[in-house]
Amino acid sequence: MAKIISGFSKLTKLQKIEWLAANFFEDSSGVQQTLSAWQHADEQQQKIIDGFTENALSNYTLPFSVAPNFMINGKVYAVPMVIEESSVVAAASSAAKFWLDRGGFHAEVLGTVKLGQVHFRWGGEPARMKALFPELKARLLASSDDLTLNMRQRGGGVLDIECLDFTHLEPEYYQLRVSFNTCDSMGANFINSVLERFGDQLELFIETNPALHDRERDVEVVMCILSNYTPDCLVRAWVECPEAELEVLARDAGMPGHAAVDRICTAVRIASIDPFRATTHNKGIFNGIDAVILATGNDFRAVEACGHTYACRDGQYRSLSKAWVQDGIFRFELEIPLPIGTVGGLTALHPLAKQALGLLGNPSAPELMMIVAAVGLAQNFAAVRSLVTTGIQQGHMKMHLTNILNHLGATTAETEAAQVHFCRETVSFSAVRTFLEKCRTGK
Ligand code: MEV
Repeated sequence: MAKIISGFSKLTKLQKIEWLAANFFEDSSGVQQTLSAWQHADEQQQKIIDGFTENALSNYTLPFSVAPNFMINGKVYAVPMVIEESSVVAAASSAAKFWLDRGGFHAEVLGTVKLGQVHFRWGGEPARMKALFPELKARLLASSDDLTLNMRQRGGGVLDIECLDFTHLEPEYYQLRVSFNTCDSMGANFINSVLERFGDQLELFIETNPALHDRERDVEVVMCILSNYTPDCLVRAWVECPEAELEVLARDAGMPGHAAVDRICTAVRIASIDPFRATTHNKGIFNGIDAVILATGNDFRAVEACGHTYACRDGQYRSLSKAWVQDGIFRFELEIPLPIGTVGGLTALHPLAKQALGLLGNPSAPELMMIVAAVGLAQNFAAVRSLVTTGIQQGHMKMHLTNILNHLGATTAETEAAQVHFCRETVSFSAVRTFLEKCRTGK
């Protein structure tokens, strides 16, 4: 079959494109041109980007934006964001400005512990494993000295190793759970290398241990891998101000006094009660978080996976944020695990990730955790504020108007006219098309 190929990765970029164009497109005329048009003009830069994955054909562009006026713990940041959704950066910027006049964002890092696991099978008695473990632990730590030296010199390394007995759930299944301090790096490669060393040493220790009977020498390491769930790599961000200072929210929406704050708190409680709402609520938080994570060259899948697991840590998926009023003070808070880094990986390789970190003043990983959490909270505040007052579509569709105009090939003059017209009118695809038709036919 022409659509199946061996050795695809060995072809040159041009050969790959030609083969795909010939076999997967009905009309392949513009394929090569489009893919080439999005290539970087500088060959060296393009080579760096091609190096990120196998079979790279071109670059997939997203806007690199910035949300200014984020005051976090008294320091002002202009935060880089990479995202395709029209209203996200505008919403973050508007929430940042809103809270700038009310003390800004506050944040604290509650922990920076990363985790990894060695999953293994062993047929001996659990009590015997417990007795052997102190010696095994010392052996494992010593065996990884060469791998951890650099990290230890930076103040990090392996923090602890536990041996967990899961034999009541899966026959013969044990787990080494290893905690790490990876300093300013996300640390995935470091953690996985140490875990694989531990796996080898665990087998060696058990297979050659003279204190064990022959029948106890059978051990099988199933896998060694970091855990993306890091509940103790945790940050809290919050905003607070006298409730009276928020009456403007109600006024802007034509509501009486405390109504907006009351609705905001209710909306957040609803997201704690109902997983269907919680998922959308948390998605709004990740709109902001993912955008900064992507801009700074971090792994957004890791951050999302971790955050969603944390959101159901008590057995039900719930809101990651909380909002309440106590003694006349409104407080809106987000607590989220963020296993991220500011050195190593893509942070150093991707030219724009480097710029993004430069824009933030080259923060440490804990500082970046606080920035990211503040943006997530800002995004959540902006979304819930709109939802309980004007509704989300008003702001969203205003931002989306440009996309619709571009899609319909509007000229600069038509775009300007549409922007004036749709200040007062509801934006929809058909309303914009009708408006353009009228402009063009003069009717
Ligand atoms: C849209 O991307 C995000 C929201 O749905 C978040 C929310 O409902 O809280 C607006």
